[in-house]
Amino acid sequence: MSEAAPVLTIDGPGGAGKGTISRLVAERLGWHLLDSGALYRLTALAAGKHEVSLDDEAALAGVAAALDVVFLAEDGEARILLEGADASRAIRTEQVGDAASRVAALPAVRQALLERQRDFRQAPGLVADGRDMGTVVFPEAPLKIFLTASAEERARRRHLQLREAGVDANLSSLLKEIQARDARDMQRSVAPLVAADDAVELDTTSLTIPEVVDRLTELLAKRGLASDT
Ligand code: DC
Repeated sequence: MSEAAPVLTIDGPGGAGKGTISRLVAERLGWHLLDSGALYRLTALAAGKHEVSLDDEAALAGVAAALDVVFLAEDGEARILLEGADASRAIRTEQVGDAASRVAALPAVRQALLERQRDFRQAPGLVADGRDMGTVVFPEAPLKIFLTASAEERARRRHLQLREAGVDANLSSLLKEIQARDARDMQRSVAPLVAADDAVELDTTSLTIPEVVDRLTELLAKRGLASDT
């Protein structure tokens, strides 16, 4: 049954709005959600907890394979438990994001997380958010989206988000960090960030969140994957 469940893959660089858009589309359709970036972040966090070096690929793959993680959705709020403790906030820091980007460049870690990601494919459907959802994890997905926005716009969005959270951040250093992370994600030899040949590219620089959600729902409906609600 789970083999037949449709998958919508949403790949693209960090800050393009994938997380928010994926959650809203999944909610609208009543589909499951895979936040694959969270798995790399959790691996980095668990490695820190267990004092595993970010240079030790084999040990990191072991951490990834053994991840004790539970994804909960309560009242539209996603919570993530790592080894029984709430890690929802801890995985979102810049420090963990940076470590996740290093961990994600290791082939053994990516391999260790592959089946765990495919297990999310359950009826009635899955929205899969990441960098290699359409190219590696679900290459047969019936609809693939590559979501982008200019680096400047992504830095501006991140700056706003941080300011709203009461965090003082510098726009030009955020832009530099985003450009460095893009370069690392695109240039790594294993599963680099690249649009699948059959992906629909959507630039969100001048689109609002509801406009992007509508666009995706229309595309799903056109392909007969969901009703246009
Ligand atoms: O989307 P995010 O910022 O939570 O992702 C964290 C890191 O993991 C980021 O550097 C990209 C990487 N990642 C990846 O390599 N493959 C995925 N499918 C998802 C995320």
